[in-house]
Amino acid sequence: MADNKKRLAVFCSGTGSNFRALFRAVRERGLPAEMVLCLSNRSQCGAFDFAREQGMETLHLSEKEFETHDAFASAMVAALRERGIDFILLAGYMRKVPDAVVAAWPDRILNIHPALLPKFGGEGMYGIHVHTAVIAAGETESGATVHLVNEEYDKGRIVLQGKVPVLPGDTPEVLAARVLECEHAVYPDALEKLLAGEA
Ligand code: GAR
Repeated sequence: MADNKKRLAVFCSGTGSNFRALFRAVRERGLPAEMVLCLSNRSQCGAFDFAREQGMETLHLSEKEFETHDAFASAMVAALRERGIDFILLAGYMRKVPDAVVAAWPDRILNIHPALLPKFGGEGMYGIHVHTAVIAAGETESGATVHLVNEEYDKGRIVLQGKVPVLPGDTPEVLAARVLECEHAVYPDALEKLLAGEA
């Protein structure tokens, strides 16, 4: 029934391919959820284009437009509360979620990271930097990790991981594409677990 559906907000900064994979999964798997908001720190991004195509609300919220971090965090909490958001999905969101939001949605925020945490996580480890570091370290395996978000970068409880090989001659871009494909498979499965109370 429509009123049993959990209300999801997706946070993005870029292309939003994970957002698209999650959106498709909600529809095709008939998950008991509804994506109601796409929030971004950027005023224009691929994720916003997709959200608008789907008739989903978009919200640009940038810390730069607030005088203090607390004011920014309060605005984010208020925006999410006003929309009755149950769960938050970070899908290529390149900012740290304010502690006030983490505190208000405990164990209800998921993030996808393009490596096998706990390795290659933490501040500065995002996007292509992750794949560059994985190759430089001579790893033979990488992958995607979906985890719950707590106050520390990339440190929350791991929900699911998927692995891919690192092949000889891989550039960071080639590895990124292989990992991204894995992300699109793993993130919907992790969302399903979250909605089932198994995250
Ligand atoms: C994905 O690879 C995601 O794991 C990564 O950014 C990419 C976003 O792609 N996220 C991080 O590095 C966060 N630490 P997308 O916009 O196409 O989903």
